[in-house]
Amino acid sequence: MQIKTSSRLEGIGEYYFSQKLREIDTLNKEGKDILNLGIGSPDLPPHPEVIRVLQETAAQPNVHAYQSYKGSPVLRKAVSNWYKQWYAVELDPETEILPLIGSKEGIMHICMTYLDKGDEALIPDPGYPTYSSAVKLAGGTPVTYTLSAEHNWQPDLVALGKTDLSKVKLMWVNYPHMPTGQLPSVSFFEELIAFAKKHNLLICHDNPYSFILNEEPVSLLSVPGAKEVVLELNSLSKSSNMAGWRVGMLAASKERIEEVLRFKSNMDSGMFLPVQLAAAKALELGKDWYDSINTIYAQRREKVFELLSLLNCDYSKQQVGMFVWAAIPDSYTDGFALSDEVLYGASVFITPGGIFGEAGKKYIRVSLCGSVEKFEEAIRRIKTSVTK
Ligand SMILES: Cc1ncc(COP(=O)(O)O)c(C=O)c1O
Repeated sequence: MQIKTSSRLEGIGEYYFSQKLREIDTLNKEGKDILNLGIGSPDLPPHPEVIRVLQETAAQPNVHAYQSYKGSPVLRKAVSNWYKQWYAVELDPETEILPLIGSKEGIMHICMTYLDKGDEALIPDPGYPTYSSAVKLAGGTPVTYTLSAEHNWQPDLVALGKTDLSKVKLMWVNYPHMPTGQLPSVSFFEELIAFAKKHNLLICHDNPYSFILNEEPVSLLSVPGAKEVVLELNSLSKSSNMAGWRVGMLAASKERIEEVLRFKSNMDSGMFLPVQLAAAKALELGKDWYDSINTIYAQRREKVFELLSLLNCDYSKQQVGMFVWAAIPDSYTDGFALSDEVLYGASVFITPGGIFGEAGKKYIRVSLCGSVEKFEEAIRRIKTSVTK
């Protein structure tokens, strides 16, 4: 039977990684043994205490019912304490926190809550591809703002302020920035809040990487007056090694939380309570936890630097987060060409920067979610097979 998909899917392809993982799977079935250095899914386990809470609570008979749409009070309190301890941000656990089934779903919820046909949302180029898809699926129009190494991968707010922003309702920002690993400067965050107020738009800050290879996690909500204009997404996927658990959160004013909940409560029916209680435990972990994962990521990053140097790529050692972003040498037309050569020549998959937007075309991104041995093997293969 032929049936036409909805017009809202026009221009929305299958997610790049979903497609690429299938291709890698096919190559593996042909006996290739591809080393995947692409996707940012932590390979390390969560803290054992987190697993213990999940196991013990899941064994209880009274935890299997539907849960509150607003999330468990235990998890909301844990989020509030976590924001206070690490970001010096006060959030009312009753009204200013909304647990999410991963922060990715929050991107869609926010777009569905605020965008009508004709409304515009500013999105970063390069940036996480979901911002643009979610804006389009919600019926809005994504308008990219270009980031560049020359401007420290931060938007030029003066230039942006001179463009027609009359239809813009949302601006997506993400610092530490993925894919470039750029940290935000304090003055930039302050300017951003002033910009949002001046132009009457909401800033949606996506903040899943603030603990990875970064000693000073920062929330956009820590800027005075930010709550009036900021919705901040955060996640346990990367900082607690819980990507598959699907736990994230939205932090914002009571008014914004209620608005988003109007949409979200029609989409899902809460999260399994043992997952929420285990997530609350993860948020209580101290500096030792973050130090322990960062020690491992730092060792891996050294290997990734070595691999990138071998490919004659140029990179900043100041970047943070779960990836290394690198400019390709002039001998390749773009990151796709380099990625293909390494995939088909050395059976190593590296993400081409172009999937994050036009401005990422001359770059590649390597994920730190693999063992030192895996990177050593990738280096060995590239040394023997890739000549440029
Ligand atoms: C910038 C950015 N935002 C959001 C997400 C989604 O994270 P979550 O697992 O919380 O849905 C990712 C995942 O890779 C990401 O890179």
